[in-house]
Amino acid sequence: MKEMLEQLKQQLSEMLPEIDSPQKLEEAKVRFLGKKGSLTALKRGMGALSPEERPKAGQMINTVSQWMEERLSECEQRIKSRMREEALRSETIDVTEPRDAISMGGEHPLTLVLRDLVDCFTGMGFEVVEGPEIELDHYNFELLNIPKNHPARDAQDTFYVDDNIVLRTHTSPMQARTMLTRKPPIRIICPGRVFRADEVDATHSPVFHQMEGLVIDEDVTMADLRGTLNEFARRLYGSDVTTRFRPSFFPFTEPSAEVDLTCMACHGKGCPICKGTGWIEVLGSGMVNPKVLDMCGIDSKKYKGFAFGIGLERIAMLRYGIRDMRLFYEGDQKYFAQFR
Ligand code: DAH
Repeated sequence: MKEMLEQLKQQLSEMLPEIDSPQKLEEAKVRFLGKKGSLTALKRGMGALSPEERPKAGQMINTVSQWMEERLSECEQRIKSRMREEALRSETIDVTEPRDAISMGGEHPLTLVLRDLVDCFTGMGFEVVEGPEIELDHYNFELLNIPKNHPARDAQDTFYVDDNIVLRTHTSPMQARTMLTRKPPIRIICPGRVFRADEVDATHSPVFHQMEGLVIDEDVTMADLRGTLNEFARRLYGSDVTTRFRPSFFPFTEPSAEVDLTCMACHGKGCPICKGTGWIEVLGSGMVNPKVLDMCGIDSKKYKGFAFGIGLERIAMLRYGIRDMRLFYEGDQKYFAQFR
């Protein structure tokens, strides 16, 4: 019996190095420890032994059986850890491997200009408001002192939705909406899309962008308007850029002014961009017409205000040397990539 056990141990020992897969492991378990395995056969054979010999033989078989189980479980650990390593190796992803270049777009020049304007004016204490693009005639015209049949309506080729509803022709209706819903002091800017029935060419588009500004308080004067716009010019274009006010007319401001900035291309010396004048027209402005204040529920005896409207396309064209307005709306990523 002892000899046979030693032989079985010997057999398993020799096999161990070759047990390198779960199947071979299972085969070995069945062969040595299974129901029809060698050890079980030996146990059965114990019946032939004398009662005195039996306990000793049983103990020997158990010792060997334990020994075999330990060896096979070592085998199992070895196989498992090897399989884990293989899996790790074969499933490894090389995160440093170079991939195809992703083509990057750029930010739209109008977005860049808008962000600078908003930064500039919020830095001076203005709050950003937004309003509807489809607007009532009442806000777009009437409350701004542009009644029906007023010649100023002809200057803005309006898209009418019906008799009372238009696509807003400027951001100025937000002046009226703000005055009607807020109490002074008011200091707002309103950027947004505006619409006019213009033919598309290098300097016209039926859709373009403006930014409105409105300030209402007790002692607001034209000097505050000038100071605010000078500060805007300096912050955006540098300390040598200033404003020039030219008398103008808008029904909703009195007095009104067209405002020019020192030409940023030639710093006022005169160049093709400013047509030799040294100045570039960028916005309309003025003191809010007292009639407009009263129509919008603000006491014109107590309060004064100033307003301005800036064309964003114009500023972006000047800043980036864009000659044709159509480029803004064609969505050509290759073109915009240069503004990254
Ligand atoms: N709304 C005018 C336009 O689109 C621009 C404008 C002029 C706005 C004078 C103003 C202003 O606020 O005071 O032509």
